[in-house]
Amino acid sequence: MKICCIGAGYVGGPTMAMIAKQCPDIPVHVVDLNQERIDAWNSDSLPIYEPGLDEVVREARGRNLKFSTDVDAAITEADIIFMAVNTPTKTFGVGAGRAANLEFVEKCARRIAEVAEGHKIVVEKSTLPVRTAEAIKRILGAGASGATFDVLSNPEFLAEGTAIDDLLDPDRVLIGGESTEAIEALVNVYARWVPREQILTTNLWSSELSKLTANAFLAQRVSSINAISALCEATEADVDEVARAIGMDSRIGPKFLKASVGFGGSCFQKDILNLVYLCEHFGLREVAAYWEQVVIMNDYQKRRFAEGICRTMFSTVSDKKIAVWGFAFKKDTNDTRESAAIYVCRDLLRERARLAIYDPQVPEAKIRADLIASMSNLAGEISDLDRSLVEKNVTIVGDGYEAAKDAHAIAVLTEWDEFKTLDYKKIYGTMKAPAFVFDGRNVVDRKRLTEIGFEVFGIGKSGV
Ligand code: UDX
Ligand code: ADP
Repeated sequence: MKICCIGAGYVGGPTMAMIAKQCPDIPVHVVDLNQERIDAWNSDSLPIYEPGLDEVVREARGRNLKFSTDVDAAITEADIIFMAVNTPTKTFGVGAGRAANLEFVEKCARRIAEVAEGHKIVVEKSTLPVRTAEAIKRILGAGASGATFDVLSNPEFLAEGTAIDDLLDPDRVLIGGESTEAIEALVNVYARWVPREQILTTNLWSSELSKLTANAFLAQRVSSINAISALCEATEADVDEVARAIGMDSRIGPKFLKASVGFGGSCFQKDILNLVYLCEHFGLREVAAYWEQVVIMNDYQKRRFAEGICRTMFSTVSDKKIAVWGFAFKKDTNDTRESAAIYVCRDLLRERARLAIYDPQVPEAKIRADLIASMSNLAGEISDLDRSLVEKNVTIVGDGYEAAKDAHAIAVLTEWDEFKTLDYKKIYGTMKAPAFVFDGRNVVDRKRLTEIGFEVFGIGKSGV
């Protein structure tokens, strides 16, 4: 048995590293078209930051885990081929801004159809619209090589920042498919370390839809508590107290009730928009509108946060320095896809604020590219004014202290642990007065900071 995975990103890389670690006798070959990414996977500085990943890769790489750009060889050798390529939201044509762009999935399937020989199990790992497997089957079936295929759906539920724990001890593994033998082959891989009763098997379409539904439900919880956070600010209720009170109801449960500046990440918004698009496609207008509201609420939360900063700072942030702490979409990752920080920074820049941005993991070039992209239209065009705001009003600095020096305000946009333990007395002494803290993650100790002299505003806390 040999495995290959096409796509060495946030999903393919960690997932294959874990399979290789847990199944030392199964050769696992991860391939990608991006040479730079593959070189990084083969180096000491992996292309993604994920706690615990280094150790897992170090254990398996060179033994039964291999990274290369040789897509064709990997396909030819493998019995099971995972497809873990990116499926971003379409930026052009029909469904732009909503539907998933399946270009990379299709190209990947075509490549498999062209070079495969014998019988292969093709596994959809990327999140895909329901019934994509149908299209993949047709493309594979049209190949001239005479190879035969079974298509399985095996969505990945790992969350970034906790990927290794999620892979090691998943709540469940989901495998959808039609062929019992193919399903059994994949079950046998996971069963090396996941208890059988946690490996669910379903039909293809349930599996595809479950992934979209899980993300939609999770995002909905965040938007629900964020909606309540706005009401808390208006009524002097405290959103963390409300979350605790409702979370103790075992029917509701305590997880995913942390109010924030807005959810980000590569999945939530993309998957919901995808769900909305699908519902519209099937004429289910009310269902589409219901789910779309989760994204609308998230946009409102990000906008509301930036507007709150301006309003509180005497209705102008023009030429004021604002320290931005955190740019990743959550802690313990270097991923910025759909990060709330991007949109808050964009809005503050358009109010002419000067931003000093610090994130422990996100490189400067990535921050600048994200800000430029956020100010560009779907065709990638940006006005000269917006470009100059990113070039002239943004500095990227090496720590929270440097960011806060001479600043009028601090905006906490990612909940990195280090923000809890900084020397706030020292920081206060270097800032302009009144020194504002806008805590978009409710991580700072409000009471202590207020005692020092800061004016602190949190999400769902009265005041902002
Ligand atoms: C998510 C799903 O959790 C995972 O199962 C799926 O495979 C991929 O999408 P991920 O995007 O990596 O994972 O991170 P997640 O922990 O779900 O957080 C998503 C966003 O919601 C982050 O921006 C996070 O800060 C925010 N969030 C999460 C909140 O604002 N409050 C919460 O209570 C939880
Ligand atoms: P995800 O978060 O879903 O893992 P990423 O963008 O991090 O998404 O990773 C997807 C990877 O798939 C990228 O590194 C990209 O270069 C790779 N990729 C896309 N299309 C192909 C293809 N046809 N063949 C090989 N690799 C591909």
